[in-house]
Amino acid sequence: MLRSKIGGIGYYVPEKVVTNDDLTKVMDTSDEWIKERTGIEERRYGIKHKETTSTMGARAAEIAIERAGIQKEEVDFIIFATLSPDYYFPGSGVLLQRELGITKTEIGALDIRNQCSGFIYGLSIADQFVRTGMYKNVLLVGAEMHSMGLDFTTRGRNVTVIFGDGAGAVVVQPTEEENQGILTTKLHSDGTYAEKLAFINPGSHGGYHSKHTGEEVDYGYSDAEYGDIFLNQHMLDNAQIFPNMEGQFVFKLAVQKFPEVIMEALSEAGLEKKDIDMMVPHQANLRISAFVQRQLGLRDDQVWNNIQKYGNTTAASIPIALCEAVEAGAVKRGDLVCLAAFGSGFTWGSALIRW
Ligand code: ACO
Repeated sequence: MLRSKIGGIGYYVPEKVVTNDDLTKVMDTSDEWIKERTGIEERRYGIKHKETTSTMGARAAEIAIERAGIQKEEVDFIIFATLSPDYYFPGSGVLLQRELGITKTEIGALDIRNQCSGFIYGLSIADQFVRTGMYKNVLLVGAEMHSMGLDFTTRGRNVTVIFGDGAGAVVVQPTEEENQGILTTKLHSDGTYAEKLAFINPGSHGGYHSKHTGEEVDYGYSDAEYGDIFLNQHMLDNAQIFPNMEGQFVFKLAVQKFPEVIMEALSEAGLEKKDIDMMVPHQANLRISAFVQRQLGLRDDQVWNNIQKYGNTTAASIPIALCEAVEAGAVKRGDLVCLAAFGSGFTWGSALIRW
């Protein structure tokens, strides 16, 4: 049976290191609070005007393409996962294509917006394309430049201290080898709590969703029949253009959904917890990872965490962590690798890969 495998993997993180102490200079927070609640010690920020989400994605992609043993012109489909795109439109996939210098137009470029689950959603899409024989080299990139859109005042501290910039990429290719490749991917969503972790302006909502949130917010809309909905001066003046999160609410659901979706994938593949060799969870919070690790009965060396160094890089976090694990020799041919994520939407998912 034709399966898909990760044929090449790479990551890129910007050089600029921002420590917790650096953040204390601009907002009321502390190294102790951040480390204790999240495990984060430092994160990377891209260089303004020189780096963007798509350029960081391209740097990671170049490594993945080389390791996959192909030329960039052999990429036949691009999937780009991000919540911090260069532009509202067009998508980052075409910008990545341009940055990589891929001039061939017989390929497609798809942007997906599934936040922290973006990489797993993208992997599932790539897997389907490869299994059906439609494409041979699907380039999947997860990249984020959060640092350009966060609230660097005390008002935004619960969100801002968590996020970092970076990119990870894989090339998904066919394999006919027995006992290798992506065994299954499981995807879920529940829009009930969409606003619990959201970045809502600019947008076309016009306050419509208050019937779900139960909270009427003044966004400063005028009486004009058209215009001023996406973005207006009131939103800028009242800091309504930043991400917001009800951290504890998200945390409680995350620790429930991570183990659930991992068990679902194991059960479908006819495997058990004890079969997992390496788990690479989305890096949202070290406490969430530790909880999931306990639930699955995994040893410390069976879980790859790097949130301490990079913070939460959303769609990039799994491919960065997986790449580090592979480079460190912690994932070997034949190992059962489990990926899992939960985030805004809410969306969540898992993937099992026989490496
Ligand atoms: N520094 C200092 N104090 C802070 C900070 C900060 N950076 N942020 C919040 N606080 C304060 C709060 O104001 C609050 O003070 P109060 O008690 O006086 O009101 C106190 O710390 C506790 O705040 P909580 O939000 O309850 O803190 P919690 O222990 O829940 O930790 C955190 C917050 C780290 C955000 C946690 O809830 C979490 O990790 N949630 C899950 C995040 C997640 O998984 N996100 C999904 C992925 S992201 C995506 O999809 C885009």
